[in-house]
Amino acid sequence: MHISLPTAALLVLGSLARSLARPLERLPPINLRSRDVDVPTFSSFLPIDDPLLQLIRTRARDVSLKSWELGTLAEAYLEIDWPQMSVFGATGVPPARNVGGTDNPNNISTVLELANYAIAIRPVGAVTLFEDGSVGDPTSLGVAMLMANWTKASRADEAHNDYDAPLRQQLGYVLNTAPKTPDGAISHRSEQVQLWSDFIYMTPPFIAYYGALYQPYVHQWLVYTAYDQIRLYRNYLFDSNVGLWKHIALGNFTDDGHWSTGNGWAAAGMLRVLATMNQTTLGYQPQFLAAQRDLQNWATEIVNNIWAYQQSDGSLLNYATDPNTFSDSASTALLASVTFRLAALPSYLRGPPANATPESLRAAHLARDCIKRRLNTTDGWLAQVVDPYSFSNQQTDGKSPEAESFVLMMEAAWRGWKDYILEEAKTDR
Ligand SMILES: *[C@@H]1O[C@H](CO)[C@@H](O)[C@H](O)[C@H]1NC(C)=O
Ligand SMILES: *[C@@H]1O[C@H](CO)[C@@H](O)[C@H](O)[C@H]1NC(C)=O
Ligand SMILES: *[C@@H]1O[C@H](CO)[C@@H](O)[C@H](O)[C@H]1NC(C)=O
Ligand SMILES: *[C@@H]1O[C@H](CO)[C@@H](O)[C@H](O)[C@H]1NC(C)=O
Ligand SMILES: *[C@@H]1O[C@H](CO)[C@@H](O)[C@H](O)[C@H]1NC(C)=O
Repeated sequence: MHISLPTAALLVLGSLARSLARPLERLPPINLRSRDVDVPTFSSFLPIDDPLLQLIRTRARDVSLKSWELGTLAEAYLEIDWPQMSVFGATGVPPARNVGGTDNPNNISTVLELANYAIAIRPVGAVTLFEDGSVGDPTSLGVAMLMANWTKASRADEAHNDYDAPLRQQLGYVLNTAPKTPDGAISHRSEQVQLWSDFIYMTPPFIAYYGALYQPYVHQWLVYTAYDQIRLYRNYLFDSNVGLWKHIALGNFTDDGHWSTGNGWAAAGMLRVLATMNQTTLGYQPQFLAAQRDLQNWATEIVNNIWAYQQSDGSLLNYATDPNTFSDSASTALLASVTFRLAALPSYLRGPPANATPESLRAAHLARDCIKRRLNTTDGWLAQVVDPYSFSNQQTDGKSPEAESFVLMMEAAWRGWKDYILEEAKTDR
């Protein structure tokens, strides 16, 4: 079923009107006729309701134990609960500094709780933010930790925590101590040089944010390093035959398959670095403008290429191009989130040549519909997910920490996209 845009707009306005508890006719008149938005089903325009979102938040917190699970959850909480404080918020870098007060929309308590948890269990003498055999994964907590340090003065209760030294040690470890390829790509593993697509979500967004936070004093080299790591990784992992990323290169085993979650990690990490960079003054320099264009093109190529392998029920297979693998909800949610983000980049960040195609946007809506069908509304678990500790197998107990976070990110990105088309429609009048 296709829904025409005016119908779709009425649905959005109807739900907005209900949530604002005021009559529809008092909303500003909106003319959406010039917008070409293809929303495939009725369900595509309905939000995941608050009780279910709350269950998903709780499930994710219950089961997130590993470094990257906590780091990914911190980013998910940030994007869904405090969107204006994230790098996708219009004034997200640097974010507000005063987070005090229960009614403060910048409160970020759910994010800080994770940073403080990680600090509390960090062993004495550690050089990373979290114990792990991976180089990249502990750095996924870095943005939350930088925010904890940044907002510390407005939180008397956290005054005893030292975030600064752990942050400096973590950055120093990843830049100077961790193993690297001869051309400078930082290994995702500590015991050997091995590159995983996962790294792109874990580390470059942290390095970029570290460099961008203290504006107007931007640490240009750090922001550039975030971009450059993505460039180096792409040289090893991009498979030009299909336009998607392989999962693992180098080291004592490799994975040449196009692991869907890995492609999602890569594209999502690129967008976070892009958004961070664009909120600094660096963009006015030619090499940073070129870097932003690369990041946008590289994220777009993943998105547009992977949806070509979408299944009829809206999902992606665990290895997108391998028909012998199972249908995986985790990567489906993550790629939907990336697609909504790309489609809603502020107009100054769009521009030629690339953006998510209308077909990709439509695919993301179908993917989101699929995720909604696979969410258990009684307990909040997302069904049919890859085992996060054994990436070629389906999770037998059906529970994945990162998949729960991906659903929160998908919904945050969808909200961002919805606000964006309504805003565009208003300026079109
Ligand atoms: C943020 O809000 C929570 C309740 O949602 C409250 O417990 C907490 O004290 C607030 N944080 C600050 C710094 O005021
Ligand atoms: C942490 O905060 C302090 C005080 O604002 C600041 O001087 C320091 O540079 C910050 N550390 C990092 C790693 O951002
Ligand atoms: C690769 O090396 C690591 C550590 O050196 C080891 O733990 C792992 O079992 C090895 N894997 C294979 C497939 O050889
Ligand atoms: C943000 O990106 C747009 C589009 O590439 C560019 O025109 C603009 O200069 C960038 N701004 C900054 C501050 O990087
Ligand atoms: C949903 O969760 C409830 C509570 O855990 C469980 O009893 C029920 O079987 C689940 N439904 C499906 C379709 O798995």
